[in-house]
Amino acid sequence: MKIFTTKKEIAGYFANKDGKVVGLVATMGALHPGHISLIKQAQQSSTEVICSIFVNPTQFNDPKDLEKYPRPIAADISMLEQVGCDILFNPPVNEIYDDNEKWHLDIGDLEHLLEGEFRPGHYQGVTQVVYKLFNIIKPDVAFFGQKDYQQFLVISKMVQLLNLPVKLVMCPIQRESDGLAMSSRNIHLTPEDRKNALILSKTLNWVKNNFDAGNIPVIKQQAEQMLNNQPGIEPEYFEIVDGETLHTATATTQNIVALVAARAGKTRLIDNMLMERG
Ligand code: PAJ
Repeated sequence: MKIFTTKKEIAGYFANKDGKVVGLVATMGALHPGHISLIKQAQQSSTEVICSIFVNPTQFNDPKDLEKYPRPIAADISMLEQVGCDILFNPPVNEIYDDNEKWHLDIGDLEHLLEGEFRPGHYQGVTQVVYKLFNIIKPDVAFFGQKDYQQFLVISKMVQLLNLPVKLVMCPIQRESDGLAMSSRNIHLTPEDRKNALILSKTLNWVKNNFDAGNIPVIKQQAEQMLNNQPGIEPEYFEIVDGETLHTATATTQNIVALVAARAGKTRLIDNMLMERG
C-alpha cells in the first residue's frame, strides 16, 4: 500500500489517471470492520481504492472528544494492508487547513436538525473536510456508511449544491453480533456501558418490527420510553423521520428512517434503521 501525507504526492500520483476509477473511503481512523466493509465495497467498483485517515479538528464541538479520539495508526495501516487497500492518505492538520481558516457552506436545515442540534458546527466541519478531500483526491466514487445517516445527506446536499463530479454510495451499517453498531468510540465503553448500549439497536429493531405508518407518534413514544427506562443511558433524541428531509415522518411518507442518539456513560452513540412500510 502506498502511503501519502501531502497534497503534492496525491496530485503527482493521480496526474495521469489513465482511465482509473478512483474510490474514496474517508475516515478518521481507529478502523474497525465497519470501515473495512466500505473499503471492500469500494474495491468492487473501483480500480484504485484510497482510504483517508484524518482526525478532523473542525468537526469536533467538544475539545475533550478530539483529544481522546483514538489514533492507532500502526494497527490501521495493517488492517488496510490486509484488505488490499491501494493508497492511504494520512495528512497532518496543516496540510488540510490554514491557520484560523474559517468558511462555511450553508446547506440549509439538514445541518441544524438532529445531530446538528446536539453538535452545533459539527456538519460545517464535515463539509469543510470532505470538500477538501474531494478536491485533493478527485475520486470518481466516494463511499460513506449509513451509520452516519445524516452525514450522508449533508454530503449529498453539498455535492448537489456545488455540482461536484463525484458519485456517492451509502453502505450498510456493520454491527457486532449482539446488535451494537460498530464505532471507533465503542472502545471508550466500560463493560457496563457496553451492556446498556444495546438498548439503542434493541429499540430500533423493536420499532422496525412493530412499524405502523399510521401510528408513528405512538411508536415514537414507546421507543422513547424503552430508552428512558434503560439505566445508564441518557437519550438525546429518538426520531422517526422522512429519510430525505429529516422532517418528522407522516402516514404518507415513503422513505422512513428512525434515528437515535444517546450517551452510554461518557460515550455518545448514534444509530439508525430504515423502516419498511407494511
Ligand atoms: P468515521 O467515523 O471514521 O467514519 C468513516 C466512515 O465509516 C463513515 O462513512 C461512516 O459512516 C462509516 N462507518 C462508521 N461506522 C460504521 C459501521 N458500523 N458500519 C458501516 N459504516 C460505518 O464519518 C467520519 O469518520 C467523518 O465524519 C468523515 C466523513 C471521515 C469526515 O471527517
